[in-house]
Amino acid sequence: MSEFPRVRPRRLRATPALRRLTAETRLHPADLVLPMFVREGIDEPVEISSMPGVMHHSLSSLPRAVEEAAAAGVGGVMLFGVPLEKDAIGSGATDPDGILNVATRVAVDAAQGALVVQTDLCLDEFTDHGHCGVLAADGSVDNDSTLERYDEMAVVQAEAGSQLIGMSGMMDGQIGSARDALDDAGHSNTALLAYSAKYASAFYGPFREAVQSTLVGDRRTYQLDAANGREGLREVDLDIAEGADIVMVKPAMSYLDVLAETAATSTVPVWAYQISGEYAMIQAAAANGWIDLDAASYESVLSIKRAGADAILTYWATELATRLQKGLIR
Ligand code: PBG
Repeated sequence: MSEFPRVRPRRLRATPALRRLTAETRLHPADLVLPMFVREGIDEPVEISSMPGVMHHSLSSLPRAVEEAAAAGVGGVMLFGVPLEKDAIGSGATDPDGILNVATRVAVDAAQGALVVQTDLCLDEFTDHGHCGVLAADGSVDNDSTLERYDEMAVVQAEAGSQLIGMSGMMDGQIGSARDALDDAGHSNTALLAYSAKYASAFYGPFREAVQSTLVGDRRTYQLDAANGREGLREVDLDIAEGADIVMVKPAMSYLDVLAETAATSTVPVWAYQISGEYAMIQAAAANGWIDLDAASYESVLSIKRAGADAILTYWATELATRLQKGLIR
């Protein structure tokens, strides 16, 4: 008499050792990139209230945090600058002594080559109007004059030692333009990370506080509409054609379909950014005792990897890498 059911998927789930051996996806510390905020004019680090556990670093607290990330085996850090002064064209972004560029030198020095120091290339932290580009007379974000600012920024960031420049402004042609500018300035070895499928998302909320954003309005004329998956793939194709070394989908958790489709076809590495709001909502639920922080943070990042990300930017990078290193999670 045949037993039923003969096919029993539960066999492989029976013990922790079997589950470990048959896991299809594993996180590794080197898969993780830590976004870091460096703020001008502070001596001590200050916690960002909308992102509990995430700091505004000072130039003096930055090295230690970079060393901790490196010691945990984190693959890279992504630096954001929070300047004291902002103006219409974001002058601080292209000042070699501006906070982001100084922080880059400090981080490169601290990292000692153990992890990749990356920089965010966008104007929103530096403009008084808070947009990612410069404005035309009618108040719209002017694509092509913004490209000129991005090109200058790229060269200054490369000169400060950034090894991988994260193009997050969503201007048309930004990858090709920055690539040419870098090559012309002798920085052909500086790599470009394209925030290709970057969506206009409500989940950026906590980040806006983190960079003291003054934005009035929204970014919908340049960031993608949440409704559009195909358009995200088109942006990925364009960026690869323009010379992107890595493409990215952002945010991550609400866009896993776009991530999976990108991963299925991309010929360059595919990354994802688990953004501030994704972090903050899990932190908040955990602080209320509604979910377990360790389990939920791990599961969320593992899911992003399972969907196809080769590496993940996450504010939990150092914590997760440390737990992975200690064998607390696989
Ligand atoms: C642009 C930039 C943003 C983020 C990363 N780069 C903000 C935005 O586009 O509004 C968001 C990151 C996060 O929310 O964690 N400089």
